[in-house]
Amino acid sequence: MTTTKATAIAHPNMALVKYWGKRDETLMLPHQSSLAVTLSPLEVRTSVEWGSASPAVVLHGRGATEDEAARVRTFLERAAVSAGRDASSAATARVVSEGNFPMAAGLASSSAAFAALAVATRASLGLERDVVAESRLARLGSGSACRSVQGGFCVWSRGKRDDGEDSYATQLAPSSHWPELRMVAVFVDEQQKAVSSRDGMRETVKTSPYYRAWVESAEAEVVDAKAAVEAKDLAKLGDIGERNAWRMHATTLAANPPVVYLLPGTLALIHAVHAARAKGLPVWFTLDAGPNPVLVTDAPHLEKVKQLAREHGAKRLTVCEPGNDARLETP
Ligand code: PMV
Repeated sequence: MTTTKATAIAHPNMALVKYWGKRDETLMLPHQSSLAVTLSPLEVRTSVEWGSASPAVVLHGRGATEDEAARVRTFLERAAVSAGRDASSAATARVVSEGNFPMAAGLASSSAAFAALAVATRASLGLERDVVAESRLARLGSGSACRSVQGGFCVWSRGKRDDGEDSYATQLAPSSHWPELRMVAVFVDEQQKAVSSRDGMRETVKTSPYYRAWVESAEAEVVDAKAAVEAKDLAKLGDIGERNAWRMHATTLAANPPVVYLLPGTLALIHAVHAARAKGLPVWFTLDAGPNPVLVTDAPHLEKVKQLAREHGAKRLTVCEPGNDARLETP
């Protein structure tokens, strides 16, 4: 087999209407649609080399765990088969992935990693760029990754088909649509999260009596969030995002046993955000499956929001703005 290598870079994305729960765990098909914005300057760079002399999966400078490596291999096997190659060729691949921010701390690192892997994998197999095909492939690695192939604001439509062909993300607006939007990632706790989003959502779907209500309200929330993005209405988008985050965490807290991502520092910051907003500061929070909130505001209010976070438990801050499309690195 000839050696073919490609490298791609993608931003993670932060959902403002979140994906939580799968209707198909193998194809990563969600129960509901979601909407997210990509986060620049956070990024993950991933390279794939087929027919490597030293096949391995290297993540953030260390060898992957058995589970991580198996996940990447399964992904590569599927990609190889869909490109007309033998699944066994995946065993010859060397994958190296590195991000510029802490992994698994609730900042959707897997969304960037698998979006970059999807773009690099297709290119390394000699396929032309095709954002729909890349988004579908990225979804097989990590659901939320399908929203990181294109930049700016993307909507992942749940789709209805059993084969998942209609479940991928499309761009609602590029980053240039709303360049003054700011997302401030606040690290109140940098430990690896206790329950992965994969396990957390599985338990929630299985055992939370609130899960049905979560699914029922999601599609309308996506419609409202789309309108807020189109109108660049920060207050409306902030309200929708905050309510959606509360609803997601309410379903997980009602699982049995409960899945709790909120830590004391998380709640302290959320209360401070509410108090500051009541006094007129335009700031809202969202929270993925981890303890670290992301604060939503705009450029003119950024300094005040950073100060608020520092005064209320931030160990570190990363200021993000809407990012661009995933891109291939020219060799
Ligand atoms: O794509 P996953 O399996 O990492 O799940 C992501 C789930 C959330 O980040 C909590 C929400 C979302 O829509 O990104």
